[in-house]
Amino acid sequence: MSEVQLTIDGQKVVAQSGQTILEAAQSAGIDVPTLCHHPALTSWGACRMCLVEVKGVRGLQASCTSPVADGMEVQTESDAAVEVRKFVLELLFAERNHYCMFCQMSGDCELQDMAYRYGLDHFTYPRPYDKLPLDASRKYFIMDHNRCILCMRCVRACSEITANHTLNVRERGSESMIMADLNIPFGDSTCVECGSCLQVCPTGALIDARSAYGGREKDVTHTETTCMQCSIGCTLDVVTRYNRLLRVDGVWDSEPSGGLLCVDGRFKPLYDNRKRVTAPMVRRDGKLVESGWDEALGVVAEQLKNGTSQGLAACATTNETLDAFSKLFGKVNGEAGLLEPVAPALGYGTEANLSDILDADFIVVAGAQPLDYQRVVGYFIHRAADNGARIAVITDSENKLSERAEMTVSYGDTDRVIRAAADAEKVVLVYSVGLKSKVQAAFRELGDKLTYLALSPGRNQKGATAGGLRTAEPNGAATQYFLMGEQAEDPALLEKLNGAFTVVQASYVSPLVEGADVVLPAPVWYERAGHMTNIEGDVKVVSQVLPMPEGVRDDAVVLAALIDLLQ
Ligand code: FES
Repeated sequence: MSEVQLTIDGQKVVAQSGQTILEAAQSAGIDVPTLCHHPALTSWGACRMCLVEVKGVRGLQASCTSPVADGMEVQTESDAAVEVRKFVLELLFAERNHYCMFCQMSGDCELQDMAYRYGLDHFTYPRPYDKLPLDASRKYFIMDHNRCILCMRCVRACSEITANHTLNVRERGSESMIMADLNIPFGDSTCVECGSCLQVCPTGALIDARSAYGGREKDVTHTETTCMQCSIGCTLDVVTRYNRLLRVDGVWDSEPSGGLLCVDGRFKPLYDNRKRVTAPMVRRDGKLVESGWDEALGVVAEQLKNGTSQGLAACATTNETLDAFSKLFGKVNGEAGLLEPVAPALGYGTEANLSDILDADFIVVAGAQPLDYQRVVGYFIHRAADNGARIAVITDSENKLSERAEMTVSYGDTDRVIRAAADAEKVVLVYSVGLKSKVQAAFRELGDKLTYLALSPGRNQKGATAGGLRTAEPNGAATQYFLMGEQAEDPALLEKLNGAFTVVQASYVSPLVEGADVVLPAPVWYERAGHMTNIEGDVKVVSQVLPMPEGVRDDAVVLAALIDLLQ
């Protein structure tokens, strides 16, 4: 890329060839108004808000799609440009229902901002628009066509970010409407509820069902943290007000997913209404009764001093907690293990990052269901397929990725995949705990062009294994079990404990909690602080978004207190 010198609003600007006028202006701190443009999406050039005057060029140019050129002289707020912008805005306000005072986005709407910026204080044209439908068939968000300005951000987000291609537009001109699939209700469509469309919508056309009318931008608090709903570790922007979760957004330009989230990261945790454990409890005369922390920890410490112990952790927690858990069982007669299975080590090749999926020309999915469990990986595979990558699935059961795959074969036909990958340049093998050893051995043949991504079910599996925890089942020999983490709520575990003394450290009430001898309340995902190691091996910050309820203590602090009691 070579340097290009141009002048924008009289200011000398150095840009890179290939950049747009908009990008050059933004990097020089010059604010050019936009509506259809979004930094996470390809430029569309449809709304005409970003029109600028370029000396010597006939007509106004859309700065979001026009490339810079050496010696260019650009005026971003010339009379002609401002006049056209006002005209465009007047038409937009005439086309559909933009009575801002009744809209949940009022105060945070890009269209409204433009109206203020260009002094629109009345409706210039008659407003003969029809009342358009509102589609509330989705659980987490609503589409109100009356507020839509047809900027296509949602359509592009669905295609470019999630590669799901659910959203499109029907009809032409003033009849144009966003539609899901072939114009069916959003809730019946192929939408995967990733929420990318919702996050890029510049008006109140796509409405978050939970946070609507919950607070304007100036009223809310943003906290950046790391998602722990699966092992990918996407970066989250958690929005809160009055100690209440309002919504979760992705963070554009963040690692590893570039702002793409899935329904598990963005929506589901906000709708978790399970009953919390908010006080330590000890079993007395056959009944679990609330106790103080000192009493509960004293009982656990005494118990751990005698007999043999087994600690089993679910790893939906921080590295600090998992380390403390390992340390605790280093102090007693016993062992610590991990409740979740771990994908086997391949034993050769280099580990891939998520971005390697996008660069690959051949992707093999073996024994893994990313679209169900690590959905963002699945969406990245879809994106790669859109870019021309060939997909092969090796499975003995159904796999949603088969729809986009060139071939789906059983384990016995792995050789077919190896032959098909022979002329590829970059092959990524995506696998999970279901990887068969025959397949594992077969891919060695592809040599250096193979990289791999192992998808383990444990949410902080890399942090757990780095801390020395290995997968284990209740060993049947322990006189006491200590179960930690949200997976510890699995009721089937209770039966495997043979009635031994059981300590459960968990966030929510469950059959396992109700059957325990001591219960230690634990924080939930947005109350924890520390670090997690994501799928790429990066240690990411987990920030406390909201305070813990009174009576709950951080699990790492509780484990440290137990270690002290054992000294
Ligand atoms: Fe450039 Fe819409 S932002 S045309």
